[in-house]
Amino acid sequence: MPLPRCCGVDAELKKPETARVFFALWPDEPARKMLAQWTRLLHERCGGRKTRPDTIHLTLVFLGDVPLARIEEIKRMADEVSVAEFDWTLDLARCWRHNKIVWAGSSNVPAELSELVGQLETRLRGAGFALELRPYVPHVTLLRHARCDAELPALPPVAWPAQEFVLAQSVLKESGSEYAVIGRWPLQPQ
Ligand code: 2AM
Repeated sequence: MPLPRCCGVDAELKKPETARVFFALWPDEPARKMLAQWTRLLHERCGGRKTRPDTIHLTLVFLGDVPLARIEEIKRMADEVSVAEFDWTLDLARCWRHNKIVWAGSSNVPAELSELVGQLETRLRGAGFALELRPYVPHVTLLRHARCDAELPALPPVAWPAQEFVLAQSVLKESGSEYAVIGRWPLQPQ
């Protein structure tokens, strides 16, 4: 027997289509290579699952699941951001015991990085997006499910010139997260 045609009620019960998105900095090729090298060295001590080199990034603002219908609005907010290009250096590795993440960070967070996060957060909060409330800690995740009791190796500093920021969409797969860049914005030349 043929199934009845779909009715309005079914359509209304459907979850609105969403995408899991975040603003991020993606490293250039030299920084990515260096961070891939950090990942290998850290993995020898701490084990866990390595971040694939092409997915190494710094999250600026994590929005989580947002309705597809709001993506254009989010992009328009990014259009309004005005922050100067900056260079930053990754010079420390840490392990967070609570989530077993080994990450790379900086002992000297540039003012422009904080400004970029602040401008994005202000606009997004103003538009009603619920963002992370904990203070922002810039971290580049290199290992997951790692052992935090191991002593971390000495690592050569990584220069990361930031000339643009991106909006990325994350798709969770069994093999880990896949990311697609769905928007790019230049920082202002100094
Ligand atoms: P993580 O590396 O510390 O897990 C895509 O998932 C990116 O968004 C990752 O950089 C991830 O950080 C970050 N992210 C995921 N969930 C988050 C949350 N609830 N708050 C802040 N950042 C989050």
